[in-house]
Amino acid sequence: MAEKVVLAYSGGLDTSVAIRWIHERYGMDVITLTADLGGDGTVDGVREKALRAGAVSAHVADVRDRFVRSYVFPALQAGALYQGVYPLATALGRPLIARLLVDTARKEGASAVAHGCTGKGNDQVRLDVSIQALAPDLKVVAPAREWEMTDRAVEIAYAKKHGIPVPVTVDRPYSVDENLWGRSVEGGVLEDSWAEPPEEVYAWTRSVKDAPGEPAYVEIAFARGVPVALDGEELDGVSLIRHVNAVAGLHGVGRIDHMEDRLVGIKSREIYEAPAATVLGQAHRALEALTLSKDQLRFKARVAQEYADLIYNGLWFTAMRQDLAAYVSSTQRYVSGTVRVRLHKGTSTVVGRQSEASLYRRDLSTYGDDDAFRHSAAEGFIHLWGLSARTQAQAQPLAQDEEL
Ligand code: ARG
Repeated sequence: MAEKVVLAYSGGLDTSVAIRWIHERYGMDVITLTADLGGDGTVDGVREKALRAGAVSAHVADVRDRFVRSYVFPALQAGALYQGVYPLATALGRPLIARLLVDTARKEGASAVAHGCTGKGNDQVRLDVSIQALAPDLKVVAPAREWEMTDRAVEIAYAKKHGIPVPVTVDRPYSVDENLWGRSVEGGVLEDSWAEPPEEVYAWTRSVKDAPGEPAYVEIAFARGVPVALDGEELDGVSLIRHVNAVAGLHGVGRIDHMEDRLVGIKSREIYEAPAATVLGQAHRALEALTLSKDQLRFKARVAQEYADLIYNGLWFTAMRQDLAAYVSSTQRYVSGTVRVRLHKGTSTVVGRQSEASLYRRDLSTYGDDDAFRHSAAEGFIHLWGLSARTQAQAQPLAQDEEL
């Protein structure tokens, strides 16, 4: 009996060709696995496509809920943004896909798993490292890292020769990856760092010029750092994200244009559309500003950066990630409340926030006459606060501003 391999299958040209190529090159029976993480049109006809391209069986797994609960929301709670801007949609999907590949391989008695990543990107690293951590005995086959078909035309010729249907979208020059949390676009004219992205690269967001003239408001309720209701209506995570994507996208919110540093050392021009990630991230930060102390906020910002790098760099399945997650989860105990956001012409602005656990005390901060702050105590506080600076400046004359 032939050995079996489970291939992460998107339905696109690369992975369709990979089915046939793996069978020819390694003599393995190819089982495909398509993970539905909420990208538009991921699952339409994908099983038939896989079988027609030569798969012995084809699985489709709807893991949207699991993706949101165990990957997206932990990253949202952490405030993880790679290089301060990228909400990590693609990066968060990879460990879950790896997990599914491994589980399917076990169920099917496969000795290998496979994916369609090339040797230039981050995704190969994320999948390979995750698989190594979860199932070190499984072989990883990565056809696009091995074959010589670097030219798209050669791949199309290969597909035609073997009766593999060529998707109609192949003449679009962009490489697109999509899930509920965001859409990543690379390639084509975007490779010119000076070129403004043409409107055609965007699918989820309207251009500012076509966005409604009137603003929209959304109210997002959080419980322990997780969004649980939109405009007063309780929603499961998947529905909530879909709704926010739709309304924020309509108002042109969530476009990101970034020169990114890949793990493999390359800088790359990336366009992201992440309306929900943008708005929910902003709202979450606003609620934390209301409910966490200054020290918690400062330290958590450092954790957020570590966490983001670790997700980006494919280290999801590590003890370090789990330790950071435990810290983050502890910080979220009182991050419950509601944030009001205005969406208008490409901008999203937090305009209100409230929480039962709020640390904001109006009676302390007010300029009105119901002031509870003891003004006289400030003098003694400042006397000690300045003590060290005063002492040093007396003993060691400071340089003039112009001397520095
Ligand atoms: N640069 C982003 C990342 O590394 C997006 C990658 C998009 N992947 C793709 N196969 N098109 O997470």
